[in-house]
Amino acid sequence: MKLAHLRKVWRYTGLYGPARTYCKIAGRTRKLPVPIIGRHDPRDIALIGCGQFGVSTIGYFLTRKYGRRIKLVHDVDEFAAQSALRMLGAREAVSSPARILEDQDIRYVYIASNHASHTDYAVAALEAGKTVYVEKPVAVTRRQLARLLAAERKRPGRLFAGYNRPHSAAVRKLRELSGDNLQGALSLNCFVSGHVIGPDHWYRDPQEGTRICGNAGHWIDLFVHVLSWRGIPDNFRIQLLQGDPREPDDNFALSIATDRGDIFTLMLTARSEPFEGINETINFQQDDVICKIDDFRRMAVWKGASLFRKRFWPKDPGHRAAVFQPFRKNDERDWKEVAVSTVLMLRIVDMVRGLEPLAELDLSLELKELAGAM
Ligand SMILES: NC(=O)c1ccc[n+]([C@@H]2O[C@H](COP(=O)([O-])OP(=O)(O)OC[C@H]3O[C@@H](n4cnc5c(N)ncnc54)[C@H](O)[C@@H]3O)[C@@H](O)[C@H]2O)c1
Repeated sequence: MKLAHLRKVWRYTGLYGPARTYCKIAGRTRKLPVPIIGRHDPRDIALIGCGQFGVSTIGYFLTRKYGRRIKLVHDVDEFAAQSALRMLGAREAVSSPARILEDQDIRYVYIASNHASHTDYAVAALEAGKTVYVEKPVAVTRRQLARLLAAERKRPGRLFAGYNRPHSAAVRKLRELSGDNLQGALSLNCFVSGHVIGPDHWYRDPQEGTRICGNAGHWIDLFVHVLSWRGIPDNFRIQLLQGDPREPDDNFALSIATDRGDIFTLMLTARSEPFEGINETINFQQDDVICKIDDFRRMAVWKGASLFRKRFWPKDPGHRAAVFQPFRKNDERDWKEVAVSTVLMLRIVDMVRGLEPLAELDLSLELKELAGAM
């Protein structure tokens, strides 16, 4: 093993602990044994999309808590499916997702496949009566979003999204310390050093909705989440500036202002690969509350004269709580937030594609059109 690899393992262990680091390595190599303790009867979970996130995050948290509870796995790549079958202690790798929908034991379907496939799988699973956890983005086109919202309306409370930042310990703590009386306009700023995504990566396929769907959606969703504490505004003015217009969804600054005076900025930069993975700094202010979150490893909150500081180990960007949403009432989010953040995200996808620097979004109108589209 090269020195750089050893260093990475060391640093990841410091961030995430030994068990998660081991599972991340096992997910990449697909060669190491992963011990699973405990069994669950009946086995009632299925996983669609057995790549790195499906195995090393969703699979890791589910098997750590529930042991052998995953019954079926599916992936278009046979090797990914077979290795996940072994690593997650599942019963069968099925070649057709229809087998998952027909299986009466399966109550929960986790979806972590490519972005363009999320909606179809989620709608089919909802229609089959399953509870669905779908990774971000939940849709890559307005048509997909309209279908998903229609399916969710028929089965409320059964659909959960993989947007994890709102479930992080830091964002929850901020919510708790802010109390229920935030009334004023808010400011949110996110600086993100993201992964370098090469030209051949599947995220770059035009069908997959650009890096706005692949990555930026996380912080757009976080913005909508913090807005929801006070009330989501109706009008959004959006500005997008790229460092180099030839890379329209890399190295950009996105600003959004609302008709209630809120302002959001996101700088997504990927000029070199961050050694410890994605790294983010979040700053927030509303009324007398000021908050700094440093990479979900530490936070500070000032509320008037009081100061609260906390460190998080392991680093907690909210994946664990997000994965358990289908099982825990307290971890549920109002689906309307995800609908709004997806509407906003898709408008920004249009801006990237059309190299449009400015846009405006009337939320009520957009949601009405989506509801009328089905
Ligand atoms: N919430 C987060 O922080 C976070 C982080 C990373 C990835 N993700 C999400 O997880 C999902 C998977 O990403 P990843 O990093 O594991 O990518 P990956 O490339 O490692 O895995 C994707 C897997 O999906 C499979 N796949 C592709 N098309 C499929 C289809 N139509 N049906 C079934 N399987 C299919 C691929 O063969 C591959 O095994 C994506 O939606 C991604 O955005 C979320």
